[in-house]
Amino acid sequence: MKVLVTGGAGFIGSNFLHYMVNKYPEYEFVCLDALTYAGNYNNLKPIEGKKNFKFVKGNICDKELVDKLFDDEKFDWVINFAAESHVDNSIKNPGIFVETNVMGTYNLLDASRRHDVKRYHQVSTDEVYGDLPLDRPDLLFTEDTPIKPSSPYSASKASADHLVRAYFRTFGLPITISNCSNNYGPYQFPEKLIPLMVSKAVNDEKLPVYGKGENVRDWIHVHDHNVGVDMIMHNGRIGETYNLGGRSERTNLEVVKTILKQLGKSEDLITYVTDRPGHDLRYAIDSTKAETELGWERTYNFEDGIKETIDWYVNNQDWIDDIKSGAYQKVYKK
Ligand SMILES: NC(=O)c1ccc[n+]([C@@H]2O[C@H](COP(=O)([O-])OP(=O)(O)OC[C@H]3O[C@@H](n4cnc5c(N)ncnc54)[C@H](O)[C@@H]3O)[C@@H](O)[C@H]2O)c1
Repeated sequence: MKVLVTGGAGFIGSNFLHYMVNKYPEYEFVCLDALTYAGNYNNLKPIEGKKNFKFVKGNICDKELVDKLFDDEKFDWVINFAAESHVDNSIKNPGIFVETNVMGTYNLLDASRRHDVKRYHQVSTDEVYGDLPLDRPDLLFTEDTPIKPSSPYSASKASADHLVRAYFRTFGLPITISNCSNNYGPYQFPEKLIPLMVSKAVNDEKLPVYGKGENVRDWIHVHDHNVGVDMIMHNGRIGETYNLGGRSERTNLEVVKTILKQLGKSEDLITYVTDRPGHDLRYAIDSTKAETELGWERTYNFEDGIKETIDWYVNNQDWIDDIKSGAYQKVYKK
C-alpha cells in the first residue's frame, strides 16, 4: 500500500505521519509538502530515516510535479492535508487560499482520477458549516448541515469539499471527507491560539484576545482527529463525509485563562483587541455518524489534553525559538 500524504510537514499532517508510519510498517508513506511558512521540516524529525517514509518538497499547485509524482509512485491512497489554514491570513490575502485550497485540491483530484487511486481523502474543517448562535447550545453541526462558510479560508475549504464530492458523483472517484473541529496538540504553528498564548505567557508578553473572548470553539486533540482519519481510510464508506469533534466546547477566554493558570501567570496579561471581521461565534460538532459507523470516539478529555499540550510547548522552547528566528526554514536545505 502506497500512501501520499500532502501537507505532512504541518501541524496535523506531521502528527498523522508520526502515528501512521509507526502503526503500519508495511505501508509506504510519501509526504509532499511545499514547506510554506507553516511547514516545518523539524516536525518530521521523529520519522526521518524510517524505511517506509519519504519526503518530497513540492507544491500541490504545480500540476507537472504532481502528475510526475503520481506517475512515478503509483499511489493507492491520497490524503490531502495541504492547505493555507490561518483565517487571519485569508482576510489579508484571500488569493493564495483559492490557489492552494481549491486549485491544489483540483490538481490532486485530477491526478487521482487519472491514476485510478483506490481512495482520495480530503481533510476538511467544521468551519465550512459557518457558525452557530451562542444562545442555542442544543444546536450542533451534522453532516447534513448546509454549507455556509464565513471567511475566505472556510469558503476555499468548502469549495474544495464540493469539488471532491463532484469527482465522486461525476467520475466515480472513490472519495471520503472528514470535517473536524479545532485541533490542539504538539507541533502547531505558533500563530494559532494555544501555542501563541503559551509562547507569549511564558515570556510575560500581553495575550491578545479578540473582542470579549466569547467565541466558542469545540476542541479536539490532534491524535483523536488522526485516529478518525485512519478509521475512515480503512472502514469509511466511499462517497461519505464524517464529522469529527471533541465534545469540548470552550470560549477563547476560557482557553486563555486555563493556559495562564497552568503557567502560574496573572490574568492581567490578557489584552482585548478589535474583533476579527466576520468572526464565527460558535462551532460545535455532532460526531454520532463516525461513532456509530466506525466505532470512533475521542479519547482525550480537554482538561488532560490541554495540560499535556501546554507542557509540550513549555518543554520544547527550542522548537518555538527556531520558528521565531526563522532557522526552521533552513533545516530542510541542510
Ligand atoms: N488546525 C485545525 O484546527 C484544523 C481543523 C480542521 C481541519 N483542518 C485542516 O487540516 C489540514 C491541516 O491543517 P494544519 O492545522 O495542520 O495546517 P498547517 O498550516 O499547520 O499545515 C499546512 C501544511 O501544508 C503545507 N502546504 C501549504 N500550501 C501547500 C501547497 N500549495 N503545496 C504543498 N504543501 C502546502 C504547509 O507547508 C504545511 O506543512 C488543513 O487542510 C486544514 O484545513 C485544520
